[in-house]
Amino acid sequence: MTDKNSNTNYYSRPGNNRDPINNDRPDTADEIKEQTEAQKVKSESAVADLDGGDLKINPKTDRNKLMEVKNLHIAYNTDRGKLHAVNGVDFSIYNNETTAVIGESGCGKTTLCLALLKLTEKNARYLSGEIIYQGDEQEKNILKLDEGELRKLRWSDISLVFQASQSVFNPVIKIKEHFIDTVRAHQRGLSAKKILKRARNLLEQMQLDADRVLSSYAHELSGGMKQRTLIALSFILEPKIVIFDEPTTALDVLTQRKILDLLKTIKEKNDFSLIIITHDLAISAELADNVATMYAGKIVEYGPVESIYYQPRHPYSYGLIKAVPKIVAGEGEEGLTSITGKPPDLIEIQEQCSFAPRCDFASSKCYNTIPSLNNIAEGHQVACFNYQEVPSIKDGSHVQNSD
Ligand SMILES: Nc1ncnc2c1ncn2[C@@H]1O[C@H](COP(=O)(O)OP(=O)(O)OP(=O)(O)O)[C@@H](O)[C@H]1O
Ligand code: SF4
Ligand SMILES: [Mg+2]
Repeated sequence: MTDKNSNTNYYSRPGNNRDPINNDRPDTADEIKEQTEAQKVKSESAVADLDGGDLKINPKTDRNKLMEVKNLHIAYNTDRGKLHAVNGVDFSIYNNETTAVIGESGCGKTTLCLALLKLTEKNARYLSGEIIYQGDEQEKNILKLDEGELRKLRWSDISLVFQASQSVFNPVIKIKEHFIDTVRAHQRGLSAKKILKRARNLLEQMQLDADRVLSSYAHELSGGMKQRTLIALSFILEPKIVIFDEPTTALDVLTQRKILDLLKTIKEKNDFSLIIITHDLAISAELADNVATMYAGKIVEYGPVESIYYQPRHPYSYGLIKAVPKIVAGEGEEGLTSITGKPPDLIEIQEQCSFAPRCDFASSKCYNTIPSLNNIAEGHQVACFNYQEVPSIKDGSHVQNSD
């Protein structure tokens, strides 16, 4: 999709052919160790709160809701019929918090994030639901806005960065023109000098040589530089919500690490809400305040990052975490397991828990009733009838499968 007010085409994205979860994770011992070390620092506070296997989370009480997604259903029209990519999603984005969305390839993460800006492909149908955005003015239902109203919000209130920025810069204009165009599409009359001053500042925060980057064409920059430039650009209008859909997947592990560290620094220095989609659970553990686990078009668990990673209550979250080496565990404490089977075909209408065929905790009810997302603790929701049976990750009893 092209921002009609500018020469740029930031919202176009590459083919959707990403690997299943975990395929992007580092594969050398040193890389895994580096991630694990970083994670341990983040996790110390949660470990300190462990008491007899039960995690005491002190939920935030002063949260301000910035966006609320209510009962969202999105289907793609396909030759095979309606593909239900988002299948009844309810969740909220809070001021200045980071939410990581995790889940296997094809579970609907990108579709959900595109919907937040109504940027889904033409064959997408919004079957029901609302996306309420609490901007500075009165609240708006994003799904009811026309193109002109949406253009005002995109980039200035909500910005979106996809992986592989290589394809999103206009090759015939210099990077500085991208910054100027983007700002002027929203704030006419602002001088180029002022715009470039802010651009320089952001590029420097991303540890780039700002003057060199601004006077370059995109093809003169490396993949990592382009991605950092796009991240800087996504902040140029100080949006309230920034959405990163696998922002570093196409890059090598060291560049990924560098970019994520820079992102953390930017997050510490600026107020905005971040939604990050990543297949790398270690990255989400480091960055996120909250984690939303998606499965077959639904959010099946949502909660504070420490709850989800130490005491997941959905068998699928549990399986994802157990499939990552030592995401939260000490040396030698955890075994590595994988989730057998595959997700359902989203064309088929489910009349059972869609995870049931793969679930070690399934009971007869799971095969004839769809579980809804319920509060089980302050800020923690799960869609599972048997959530109390899911062991905590700290509990060694889950290391071996019982079968
Ligand atoms: N334009 C489209 N037309 C038809 N089906 C689509 C379209 N875009 C996505 N899908 C399908 O919708 C489902 C959800 O896709 P989506 O891209 O949202 O998943 P995802 O969780 O982001 O996956 P990945 O981790 O691979 O990026 C998948 O089954 C996908 O094949
Ligand atoms: S509802 Fe049943 S099948 Fe679904 S995740 Fe929970 S235990 Fe497993
Ligand atoms: Mg995706």
